[in-house]
Amino acid sequence: MKRFTIITLAAVCLAFLAGCNENGKKMQSNINQTVETIMARRSIRAFKADPVDHATMDTILKCAINAPNAMNAQSWAIRVSDDSAFLAGINDTFREAGAKSKNARMAAMATSPNFKGLFYGAPTVVFIATDDGRWSGFDCGMMCENLMISAKSCGVGTVALGSPTDALLLPEEAGYLAKLNIPEGYHLALIIAMGYPHQSPEAKPRDAGKIQWIK
Ligand SMILES: Cc1cc2nc3c(=O)[nH]c(=O)nc-3n(C[C@H](O)[C@H](O)[C@H](O)COP(=O)(O)O)c2cc1C
Repeated sequence: MKRFTIITLAAVCLAFLAGCNENGKKMQSNINQTVETIMARRSIRAFKADPVDHATMDTILKCAINAPNAMNAQSWAIRVSDDSAFLAGINDTFREAGAKSKNARMAAMATSPNFKGLFYGAPTVVFIATDDGRWSGFDCGMMCENLMISAKSCGVGTVALGSPTDALLLPEEAGYLAKLNIPEGYHLALIIAMGYPHQSPEAKPRDAGKIQWIK
């Protein structure tokens, strides 16, 4: 019995010390599920064919619109599609019209043999429009980050896409753009391609030198 008590006491002390620094002070563990999800998120550019199920999308979109935003103005319009004909139509039109575009970057993209589609073949795509308000870009950025992190936490891969917003401005894409029903005074600002990931890329390096503590 005495031996058992000593072993138990030693185990408790070890467990306590494992959470202490060299001065024996209790350290706080800052690793939790949110931190892990943020650190594990990467842009996904290859997706499985199944669209993200609507119950999961509802959760993700609810998280998105619960982002902080200036004066709760919610300066965003969010359009979601997993209609394969709609998404393929945008892509096919871009391949044809983009190839003839005077914009060299767009023409190069549309004709590249490596072109994987405007949305990298994602089965679910979120289109985000905003206005020119002072804080609207921040509002949308915060909303998109909520969307992408909650997606990651649900096993859904995402990539934010700026370039395809230009593609949708091609006159030939007007019918698709009109279907997005973007409010007056708003413009398409960002697209988020979503789906179950078919790759797990490594993190790109980050420059910790961008952070400075000021005394
Ligand atoms: C506003 C914005 C626009 C982006 N546009 C594109 C894009 O047009 N094409 C693309 O492949 N990735 C795009 N990305 C994804 C970035 O390339 C990616 O987030 C960055 O390289 C860091 O990699 P990570 O997301 O895996 O950490 C965009 C990201 C943001 C935030």
